Amino acid sequence: MGQDRSAAISCSCGAYRALVPLSGHSQGNRDVKLIIATIKPFKLEEVREALTAVGVRGMMVTEIKGFGAQSGHTEIYRGAEYAVAFVPKVKLEIVVPDVLVDQVTATIARTARTDKIGDGKIFVLDVEAALRVRTGETDEDAL
Ligand SMILES: Nc1ncnc2c1ncn2[C@@H]1O[C@H](COP(=O)(O)OP(=O)(O)OP(=O)(O)O)[C@@H](O)[C@H]1O
Ligand SMILES: [Mg+2]
Repeated sequence: MGQDRSAAISCSCGAYRALVPLSGHSQGNRDVKLIIATIKPFKLEEVREALTAVGVRGMMVTEIKGFGAQSGHTEIYRGAEYAVAFVPKVKLEIVVPDVLVDQVTATIARTARTDKIGDGKIFVLDVEAALRVRTGETDEDAL
């Protein structure tokens, strides 16, 4: 996987090929992971503060609609039972060093929890490569 890092990044912009070292994995474990989490919208600020406190330095936030096991039918949103299949949620996308994954997922789970249905889900994915555009730093250094 490590040898293909510059190739992966040059797919989106060939000009970066020269900036991206091929040696990411030879410098130790520099794996980064993507955490995708859905949470209830009113929990966003609390979750953001808690994540900042454990060292998260960036995230993407998107307002989405979705459904889980109840297909949206029995979920309460802003005091009313939501009668349609999609319920408003906030999606977080957070790229973190491998070593932070457990702490970040635990923090989201603890902070977003209300003990009612629809509290959200957390998924963890591998990230092939990361690049800070301004400096050319890669992987963990790019976060
Ligand atoms: N399998 C899935 N794949 C992708 N997104 C999902 C999946 N399940 C849930 N989501 C997203 O997470 C949001 C919240 O899901 P939710 O917490 O209702 O899951 P659940 O399995 O129904 O759990 P609960 O029984 O606690 O409600 C959904 O609105 C949807 O956006
Ligand atoms: Mg649900």
